[in-house]
Amino acid sequence: MARRNKIYEGKAKILYEGPEPGTLVQYFKDDATAYNAEKHDVIDGKGVLNNRLSEFFMTGLNAVGVPTHFIRRLNMREQLVRACEIIPIEVVVRNVAAGSMAKRLGIEEGTPLPRPIVEYYYKDDALGDPLVTEEHIAAFGWASQQDMDDMVSLALRVNDFLSGVMTAVGIRLVDFKIEVGRHYEGDFQRLIVADEISPDSCRLWDIQTGQRLDKDVFRKDLGNLSDAYTEVARRLGVMPKNA
Ligand code: C5P
Repeated sequence: MARRNKIYEGKAKILYEGPEPGTLVQYFKDDATAYNAEKHDVIDGKGVLNNRLSEFFMTGLNAVGVPTHFIRRLNMREQLVRACEIIPIEVVVRNVAAGSMAKRLGIEEGTPLPRPIVEYYYKDDALGDPLVTEEHIAAFGWASQQDMDDMVSLALRVNDFLSGVMTAVGIRLVDFKIEVGRHYEGDFQRLIVADEISPDSCRLWDIQTGQRLDKDVFRKDLGNLSDAYTEVARRLGVMPKNA
């Protein structure tokens, strides 16, 4: 069988040409990277878990009317997605102070925030994805004001959905990142949630014990990453049967 055309290879995923026009195949690798790829490892089974978990979250979002690129899972490591034009901005939503914001503003990790805080980061590996404001985004033409309004609205709806799903299984959604793409249907354009939603892109803390169940386990050497992700999958009832 002919190998599909590779469109793009990132740190944790590969995008291939899809079977129909307007589609792509998203392949989940086992690679884990942190600190702009300074730290790298291969974690057996991570790709399988993230494929399942991203399927679970994206399917749920589609069902509640939050549009995403996800069409269907193809196999253990691949899913069929809608092709879209990725806006070069990562949108982060924070409910609890942690990570770079806790450090930047000198707030103790774990401090609940008065309301969800939305931040933008410019997607540029060479610069280490710097924090940017709406002014930068508008002035440099990375997205229009309408796009920004739509990105914030999408991000907050994702936050409501994910927070609810996680709380129900005893997990606090501390923060997360989404990527957003422009999807064209004829002359009509809308923004959709793209990339992945998984413990690679969220901070997830056990509500009772504070145990980290996300990529911080890898970033900070807190234990076995695959065990942490398996625990999230187990609680959500999305354990891979053949993994
Ligand atoms: O590092 P920081 O605190 O800014 O991360 C905020 C959230 O965004 C975390 O959940 C982290 O996993 C996610 N993130 C990501 N990809 C990046 C940067 C952050 O998924 N490039």
